[in-house]
Amino acid sequence: MIILGIETSCDDTGIAVLETIPTRKAVGASFKILSNVVSSQIKTHAPFGGVVPNLAAREHLKNIGPCLKTALKEANKTIKDINLIAVTVGPGLIPSLLIGVNFAKALAYKYNIPIVPVNHLEGHILASIFNSQFSISNKFSNNSISKFPAIALLVSGGHTQLILMQKFSRYKIIGETRDDAAGECFDKVAKLLKLGYPGGPAISKEASKVISKSKFLISNLPRRQAGQIPIIKLPRPMIQHKNYDFSFSGLKTAVLYLIQSQKSKIKSQKFIQNVCHETQQAIIDVLIDKTLRAAKEYKAKTIILSGGVAANEELRKQFELKIENLMKIENCKLKIKFLVPTKNLCMDNGAMIAMAGWLNKNKQTKNYSSIIANANLRIK
Ligand code: KG4
Ligand code: ZN
Repeated sequence: MIILGIETSCDDTGIAVLETIPTRKAVGASFKILSNVVSSQIKTHAPFGGVVPNLAAREHLKNIGPCLKTALKEANKTIKDINLIAVTVGPGLIPSLLIGVNFAKALAYKYNIPIVPVNHLEGHILASIFNSQFSISNKFSNNSISKFPAIALLVSGGHTQLILMQKFSRYKIIGETRDDAAGECFDKVAKLLKLGYPGGPAISKEASKVISKSKFLISNLPRRQAGQIPIIKLPRPMIQHKNYDFSFSGLKTAVLYLIQSQKSKIKSQKFIQNVCHETQQAIIDVLIDKTLRAAKEYKAKTIILSGGVAANEELRKQFELKIENLMKIENCKLKIKFLVPTKNLCMDNGAMIAMAGWLNKNKQTKNYSSIIANANLRIK
């Protein structure tokens, strides 16, 4: 089966061609990403420090045709080879979603192809299936994530959710952010520090220049270099709360107060680097703490990290270490597999939407008027 994946929920226009080959196993298939074209709008939105919905829609409209052309060309396919169109119907910005949904409908109508509506968040979770060793041709059933229950941490610019998966397509949100998403916190702090948009990569770049306490201890640097250890301390919001909800707006406000109280230092590179390091670490601490607690409570066999923030190198590294530590502490009573998408698949893209389309292929329809964009779509 050849699936066209279309993604326009926010500020990336993504079109991918995915080939799926059924295997003998019940839910099995091997997957091959034939092309995965993403047109980023960073330059358009950067001057505003965030995504401007109407500008995003205008850019999608301009880019979606050329993206389709490139994706088909790279895949060495024509539109007539496409068996199924998977399109993001939500959640996201409605002006952006409408471009992708209407584009999918027009294509489907003209070429008589069924459409399957896809939840963007399910796409992010399933991107973890295409990890490096499965990138060319992966087995969906045994080798990747057959181990349920799974706890998925979805961290993007618009969402921070902890999701319990008893199996594929069965999701239960056990916690989510009450205000800002983790990615939004990165973006807003970067704006306060005038580091540009998107904030996540900018903050992690600055943070990586700091020699942290752990690195200091490991490398046994001379004592006089101890001045490089950041002394800034920011809150870890809701880390002590017994539930699995998050809150990141207070962290951003704490950074704002810190900057206001230390106005003389705001031009200092070292100060900026330390603020970035501590902000990133505060976010990481809360995310990992809550996820591991959920994994223990629900006896998870798999932890999935996904969404744009999952591209954060430090978050990936620390997750892996903490999961290993937890398994040691639990004395092998707990065996957890850690799945995270390759970095290029963490951000919005069409391949993850095509993958979710394959999983939901029983929902395909030619009743195109039933495919409706929904900005507030929930995962369930
Ligand atoms: O999933 P995504 O591409 O779009 C949404 O669905 O929101 O995520 C975008 C978010 C932005 O907030 C961006 O700052 C964040 O992901 N992000 C990162 C990194 N790369 C992207 N956050 C932290 N570290 C990164 N390396
Ligand atoms: Zn996303």
